[in-house]
Amino acid sequence: MKPIPLLLALTAQRTTAACLSSATSTTINTLLTTGGPNTLISLCPDTIVPLTSPIIFTAPGQEISTAGYPTDSTRATLLIQPGTDTTSAIRGNWQDYVRVRNLQIDGNRPKAGALGGDALLEMGGGTTGQWVEGNVIRDTRSWSCFHLIASGQEGNLCRNATVKGNTVGPCGEEGVGVEGGLWADGLSVECTESVVVDNEITGATDGGIVIFGSPGSSFLRNTITSSSTQRGFGGINMVDPNYNGNYSGVVVSDNTIIGVDSGFIELGIAMGSQVWSNPHPLNNFGPTTVSNNVFKGNIGFSIVINGWEGGLTVQNNDISAVSPPSDFADPSTCGSIQKSAFLASHPLLIYPPGAGSPLTIQPEFTTLSANASNFLCLTHPLPTSQSFTAGSLSVSAATSTVVDLKGLHVQLQGDGNLVGLDTTGTNQGGSEVKWASGRYSDGCGTDGSGCVLAFDEAGELKLTDGTGKTVWGSGTKGKEVVFLGEEPWVVVKEADGQQLWTVGELA
Ligand SMILES: *[C@@H]1O[C@H](CO)[C@@H](O)[C@H](O)[C@H]1NC(C)=O
Ligand SMILES: *[C@@H]1O[C@H](CO)[C@@H](O)[C@H](O)[C@H]1NC(C)=O
Ligand SMILES: *[C@@H]1O[C@H](CO)[C@@H](O)[C@H](O)[C@H]1NC(C)=O
Repeated sequence: MKPIPLLLALTAQRTTAACLSSATSTTINTLLTTGGPNTLISLCPDTIVPLTSPIIFTAPGQEISTAGYPTDSTRATLLIQPGTDTTSAIRGNWQDYVRVRNLQIDGNRPKAGALGGDALLEMGGGTTGQWVEGNVIRDTRSWSCFHLIASGQEGNLCRNATVKGNTVGPCGEEGVGVEGGLWADGLSVECTESVVVDNEITGATDGGIVIFGSPGSSFLRNTITSSSTQRGFGGINMVDPNYNGNYSGVVVSDNTIIGVDSGFIELGIAMGSQVWSNPHPLNNFGPTTVSNNVFKGNIGFSIVINGWEGGLTVQNNDISAVSPPSDFADPSTCGSIQKSAFLASHPLLIYPPGAGSPLTIQPEFTTLSANASNFLCLTHPLPTSQSFTAGSLSVSAATSTVVDLKGLHVQLQGDGNLVGLDTTGTNQGGSEVKWASGRYSDGCGTDGSGCVLAFDEAGELKLTDGTGKTVWGSGTKGKEVVFLGEEPWVVVKEADGQQLWTVGELA
């Protein structure tokens, strides 16, 4: 055998080396603008591109990718820099056939911070043939890791996009910050006739895949796993009214949805206009198919259907590995129907008058007896008691909730009454009062903000109203106040644990 000629070897090397080993958003944007259609931005493996503004596709067929299309940690990284107000790494809207491949797209939320704005990867608009494959897409600063936006144009819909084999997440955080919810979607898809396939989404805290209408699109073989500590709202959502609620031809098949550890997923697949926390008046509509999906572990409700019409086929979905509702979530803040369904381990729920026809539904579904909405109601397991040190508790009647304990909700009402309500019951029409301060004020103001329950710096638990009056006080110089799920309900304690006062003394 002849030895490989040196020249050939060098040429081959030079070809693979024809990639950018250093770049910024500015240099890449210049290449895209001057290069025109089909410009290829090929980044060398292991390159890190610091972003201080988004990379913007300017012509059809442009591509940004890592040379050789690796699938491991050598994929080039687009990294949003702290200290900028950039939330999008790439803007590929309104250009046909553009491609984003084999990159690590990092919103850098832990260092750059959460910020309202566009999604980390913004694609879609009035286009065809966009392609997003083999990327890591993580730590968006904003509401979503990936967004395929609709065009808003009747004759020029967002269509025919491919989103394949991406590793997505974590996306967002549980809880609320100064600008509102910190949670974020994995994939937010508002595009017709598209395919979302073989993606792995882990740790999305809003919806794993949110389908915004998107008639004719398929969602196949994706795996959606919760964070191990933070709650995810939905696995796959079909609740929003985009495209006027048109989900016709949407297929959701062979996906796996997994809730792990103390992070859990509230709603595996949510279908219809009534199921989410913001019910809207018109039904979503099919015909739509949801089949052969697998649900595992800590999922509150696997599939819930209410607010649908025009056809639905839901078959062969496997709920055999869903955890019993043991201790991974608490339904105290749910409505009574949701609470009973959760406690009775009914993972598949349908309200037939809100499901329309034709309807082909697998036999394990439980029929809801009433038109219940908002199944986004589970919380992490609640504590059996909660304590506050002097100066660390101040709640107004406008906020209302003082503490949520296992089986007990403590609220300060607009009339100044401090009340402990039983939350274990599933009776319609309210919870039983377990205890109440029985002290009232007409100085709370119309929104209740005048009345404030505080455990003050001096160690006194007291209620003051809008006129500046102390309605009642514990008269203590205590170390901590403890709210309990059982008698004596509320206790002010000394540093050594000695009980100084209980709410029972008000009676
Ligand atoms: C759909 O997109 C693919 C590339 O992803 C392209 O090959 C095909 O031509 C597109 N079809 C239409 C009808 O635009
Ligand atoms: C729903 O979308 C499909 C596919 O785009 C379309 O053919 C159908 O007319 C739409 N239905 C309505 C009622 O708009
Ligand atoms: C269920 O209630 C919602 C909200 O009131 C309403 O819009 C919807 O039409 C009701 N569904 C049925 C089947 O009555």
